[in-house]
Amino acid sequence: MSEYILNLLPLHEGEREEFEAIAPDAVHVCARSSTVTPEQLAAATIIFGWPRPEVMKGAVSLKWFQTMWAGTDEYTNMLPEGILFTSSSGSNSRSVAEHMLTGLMAVCRRLPAYLNSQRSHVWQDEGTMKTILGGTVLVVGAGNVGSAFAGLCQGLGAETIGLKRTVTGPVEGFSQVCAMDELDTLLPQADVVALTLPHSPQTAGLMNAGRIARMKDDAVLISAGRGSVLDQDALVKAMQGGKLWGAALDVTDPEPLPPDSPLWDVPNLLLTPHVAGGMRLEITRRKCVEMAQENLRRYLAGEKLDNIVK
Ligand code: GLV
Repeated sequence: MSEYILNLLPLHEGEREEFEAIAPDAVHVCARSSTVTPEQLAAATIIFGWPRPEVMKGAVSLKWFQTMWAGTDEYTNMLPEGILFTSSSGSNSRSVAEHMLTGLMAVCRRLPAYLNSQRSHVWQDEGTMKTILGGTVLVVGAGNVGSAFAGLCQGLGAETIGLKRTVTGPVEGFSQVCAMDELDTLLPQADVVALTLPHSPQTAGLMNAGRIARMKDDAVLISAGRGSVLDQDALVKAMQGGKLWGAALDVTDPEPLPPDSPLWDVPNLLLTPHVAGGMRLEITRRKCVEMAQENLRRYLAGEKLDNIVK
């Protein structure tokens, strides 16, 4: 039986034909996540893209699903049993890394305060600034995003240390890679701590009050993996008490962040609404398309796919 490929990727002109050339015998249906029909979902044997997790139970013929996300937690309990599940890990690394660096530089330069002054038409010097030149950047999660961010920080003259669950050798961008259980020892040495971990039972609440307390008083915290990794209440309490230079968070728990969360009002804490990655850069979109095409070629050839989640 030929495959029914439900392609929910944001394709540009000519890209549908690229998929058709890889799988000439398949039925190719291109749609959008927002308008996909129950009939299309039920017929699909392969799905590419970003369907809403709650519709996935209707995909009764599904054999393989490749999400456009790098993180995969929302689909964990939403997929039919026994299907092959792959991610697009690596597709948005540059985008997320640039966003993390932007947040880091913004708080180092006290831009949140300067923006407030600008809004009120006030010409006010906020005093000392911070540089990462010669500093230590500790990246908790030395995966694709962590490695890309570390590379940018290295380029700006920082020493970079990456933490991984399993250390198998050097990772691009890092001067050193250490095991995750060195976290508590390394936290007091870091000028910047960047969280790039996915959500899992092991990572939830990892950056807790005790660990925030171990950070330098003038360190910067960056969070861009999943919000659940950070104990937000502990961060608010610590920063309200004068701990840390600043923080830049692109992810929170929950999302959207409720309007009455105290996080909104912490000085020198920059919040963005989970926009570091996604399809906001053309290089990310095209990489997702290429990753889907390469895995489709492998799938049809019976080869092992890249980025297998389960
Ligand atoms: C973004 O957060 C992603 O997981 O791709």
